[in-house]
Amino acid sequence: ETDEELVARPPVVTVMGHVDHGKTALLDAIRNAKVAAGEAGGITQHIGAYQVITEHEGIERAITFIDTPGHEAFTAMRARGAQVTDIAILVVAADDGIMPQTIEALNHAQAANVPIVVAVNKIDKPGANPQKVRQQLTEFGLVAEEYGGDVMFVDVSAKQGTGIQEILNAVLLTADAGLDMRANPDKDARGVAIEARLDKGRGAVATVLIQSGTLHVGDSIVAGTAYGRVRAMADENGVPVLAATPSRAVQVQGLSSVPRAGDTFLVIQEDRTARQIAEKREAAERNALLAKARKRISLEDFT
Ligand code: GTP
Ligand code: NA
Ligand code: MG
Repeated sequence: ETDEELVARPPVVTVMGHVDHGKTALLDAIRNAKVAAGEAGGITQHIGAYQVITEHEGIERAITFIDTPGHEAFTAMRARGAQVTDIAILVVAADDGIMPQTIEALNHAQAANVPIVVAVNKIDKPGANPQKVRQQLTEFGLVAEEYGGDVMFVDVSAKQGTGIQEILNAVLLTADAGLDMRANPDKDARGVAIEARLDKGRGAVATVLIQSGTLHVGDSIVAGTAYGRVRAMADENGVPVLAATPSRAVQVQGLSSVPRAGDTFLVIQEDRTARQIAEKREAAERNALLAKARKRISLEDFT
């Protein structure tokens, strides 16, 4: 991988934080959409992924965002060894201040060595106290720049749309300050499945994040124990995509079954080889499960 032609890729950002602190509302404000309002009970049920383009220091830059329902998906993905995020935006509601899941989220980001940008949200609310959030987070090692630290805190109101450009700038400044975000687009694609489901009409539909190479319609892929040829790809708006480059998240159709969040995928040129790899993995998983069950039974026999 040393003599590869590496090209700049957009940062991949995960939005984390306590329930109802405004992760989805912030993403809505960022892309000028209204996802949170349409959700059942206002609770994010899946991981959405989308890319936005913003002007930063006179240059058009792309950022890929991943919205998680709490941090469980992030944890599940990390448990599988998948590191999808370059930067975490930690959303903290300025009226509530830090809450248990705020700390869990920041622990996960720190454990994964992912730099954090703090979005202090809901500053429009009467009880908002954004300075208190800064003080609270200092105790957890997140010291704001204005207090002599190196973490960017941005006051935002997702509801009123204030501070949105500032949070995008903070993400890009954080990315440019210390991350090597490059990948080779000129090879077979590799990446991670970030969500997947069975669709009545379309079969298995997986949202995959491309981490290197370029994924094309017609490529044969393996994702966990699923395999198949990419029959169609679409972006977050359902617009068909023929080729997806690093840091793009696309919905893929054509897999034999539904992969799990965190499963890595890769292109295997030969259809038959792709199927064999998937089947081997499935057999290995089955054997591991059987071995576990046997162990449990033999333990029960003797205790
Ligand atoms: P989960 O996905 O369930 O964890 O929640 P979330 O963090 O995505 O929060 P969500 O975006 O669903 O927002 C929760 C509630 O807070 C909604 O009723 C939003 O309208 C409200 N809200 C979000 N941002 C703001 C804000 O800046 N100001 C005010 N006043 N309300 C906000
Ligand atoms: Na919510
Ligand atoms: Mg949400």
